[in-house]
Amino acid sequence: MRAMHISPEHPMLSAVVDDLATRGWSQQALFLPADLVRALAAECRRRHAEGELNPAGVGRGASQEVREAIRGDQIQWIDPGQADACDRYLEAMDCLRQAINRSLFLGLEDFECHFALYPPGAFYRRHLDRFRDDDRRSVSAVFYLNEDWQPQDGGQLRMFLADEVEHDVLPLAGSLVVFLSGDVPHEVLPAGRERLSLTGWFRRRGNEPF
Ligand code: OGA
Ligand code: MN
Repeated sequence: MRAMHISPEHPMLSAVVDDLATRGWSQQALFLPADLVRALAAECRRRHAEGELNPAGVGRGASQEVREAIRGDQIQWIDPGQADACDRYLEAMDCLRQAINRSLFLGLEDFECHFALYPPGAFYRRHLDRFRDDDRRSVSAVFYLNEDWQPQDGGQLRMFLADEVEHDVLPLAGSLVVFLSGDVPHEVLPAGRERLSLTGWFRRRGNEPF
């Protein structure tokens, strides 16, 4: 059996939970080991090379449309059983889901996530990760896969926090950012080079909108 890198008792998980409770967001460097981060980046590049990534849409359901003036990333959703690296990522995020539920009682039921690739020049305008007609997305989690990312490469995640404070995050390999989906507006600044990530949402129980 493969060694687990993270268990529901891992101290980094309580750090995320404490940050969420006190200020609504958290940032952790080196959330997962470098070999797993490299394997996830390779899996994302492989899917891209095989044409499996598609331009991301804006909105949900029938009203979804591709609008490159709002977001220019290409995505593919992840399902269990597709690749060992993805399964290990989903296991780690399930540990985080349990840790959040134990302390914050959000009743998070599942986690949905996709690979995202921003080609050079792509960005994602300011938005909230919550659909008008579907408020099940409660906690957002973005995990970055880019080695040697420099500030001049752009592509920062900019979060708009309370009291007009802005906080920028470099999309550096191994970094995890977690925030309350309905509370933190954010944007992705234009990336100067290809930018890879895994973006996902912990969802509460709720009724499927129609
Ligand atoms: C998103 C998003 C942020 C990032 O996909 O909704 O805001 O840093 N991504 O990739
Ligand atoms: Mn977002």
